[in-house]
Amino acid sequence: METIRILGTGSYVPPHIVTNDDLVQQGLDTSDEWIAKRTGVRQRRVAEPEVTTSDMACIAAQKALDMAGIPASQIDLIILATITPDTSCPAGANWLQAKLNAPQAVSFDVTAACSGFVFAMNIAEQFLKNRTFRKVLVVGGEVMTRVVDWNDRGTCVLWGDGAGAAVLSLGESGPELLSTHIHSDGTNGQNLLLPGGGSRSTPINHESVEKGLHHLRMIEGNMIFRVAVRYFMESIKEAAEHNRIAVEQVDWFIPHQANIRMFQNISQTMNIPMEKFYLTLHKYGNISAASCAIALDEAVRDGSVRDGQLISMPVFGGGLTWGGAMIRW
Ligand code: UT7
Repeated sequence: METIRILGTGSYVPPHIVTNDDLVQQGLDTSDEWIAKRTGVRQRRVAEPEVTTSDMACIAAQKALDMAGIPASQIDLIILATITPDTSCPAGANWLQAKLNAPQAVSFDVTAACSGFVFAMNIAEQFLKNRTFRKVLVVGGEVMTRVVDWNDRGTCVLWGDGAGAAVLSLGESGPELLSTHIHSDGTNGQNLLLPGGGSRSTPINHESVEKGLHHLRMIEGNMIFRVAVRYFMESIKEAAEHNRIAVEQVDWFIPHQANIRMFQNISQTMNIPMEKFYLTLHKYGNISAASCAIALDEAVRDGSVRDGQLISMPVFGGGLTWGGAMIRW
C-alpha cells in the first residue's frame, strides 16, 4: 500500500557565526555563561544582509532534491513555512519556486511560527493522500536575526538563521511519515508578536519604526517557557498514542530547538534519556520554522538516524501553535 514517504532531506545555515562572547563585545549586557545556562545556545548563524529566506531555502531544497534523486521539474507543490518571507507579497514560496525553476509547481507560504515545518508537512500529507499532488517540497526557512531587536537581551540571544527541507511523496518503501498533528490557540498568542507591517499596526513608516514595531517581541518568556514544555509533552504523547507506539520505543526526539532547559525538564518528567534528544540549538539557536527541519537533516546525514528507527518531532511556537510528527526512518 502506498503511504507517505520522505524521499530526501536538506538544510543550509549561513557561514557567519556570532558567538555569545561576540554579543558581549558588541555591547549587549549579557554573558556567555548566562545565555548558555539559561538557553543552551553558544552561538548562532547570521545571514549576510543581501541573503533572503528564499536564497537559503533554495540551497536546502536543492540538497533535499539531490538526496531524493529527482529534479525540481517533478515537484508539483512547494510549501514554505516562514514568518520572515522575502516579501509579504509575493509569498516567500513563490520566490523559491522561481529560484528552483519549478514553474509547474503550485507554491504558497504557511505562517505557524516555530511550528511551521510540521504544519507544512501536515498540509502536504492531505494533498498527497487526496492524490491532488504527487511530489511535495516542504521547506522551513527564516532570517530571524533581521527581525530581532539587538538591544533586547531577553530575546535577541535566542535566534538564528537557516533553512531545512524535505521531499515528500506517496510510495511503498523508504522513510515513512506515519502521522502529523497540529493545534493552535489564537486567544493566547499575543505574547510572541511581530506587529510591524500588519494591518493591526500602522503601515511601515517612521512612527512604527520609532516604536520598534518591526521587531519580534516576547512578553513573559517565563510563561511561554512553561506553556511550551506542556505542549511539547502533549505532542509527544499524541503522536505516540496515535501510532500505538510507547514513548520508550521512540529512538529520537527531534524537537523545535527552543531552549535546552525545556528538554531537560521533559526528559525528567517523561523519563526520556537526554541522549535521545537530537539538538542543534547550541550551535544555531532557535531558527523558528527551520529548526526541526535542519536538525532532522543533520541527524540523517551524520548517521545518527538509522533505517527503521522511530523519530518524534514535537514543535511549539508563536500563535500559539504546536503539534508533532512521527516518522519511521
Ligand atoms: O520558540 C518558541 C518561542 N519562545 C521560546 O521558546 C522562549 C521561551 N522562554 C525562554 O526560553 C526563557 O524565558 C528565556 C531564555 C527567554 C529567559 O529565561 P528566564 O530564565 O525565563 O529569564 P527571565 O526572563 O525570567 O529573566 C531573569 C533575569 C532578569 O533579570 P532580573 O529582572 O531578575 O534582574 C532578566 O533581565 O535574567 C535577565 N536576563 C538576562 N541576563 C543576562 C534576561 N535575558 C538576559 C540575558 N543575559 N541575555
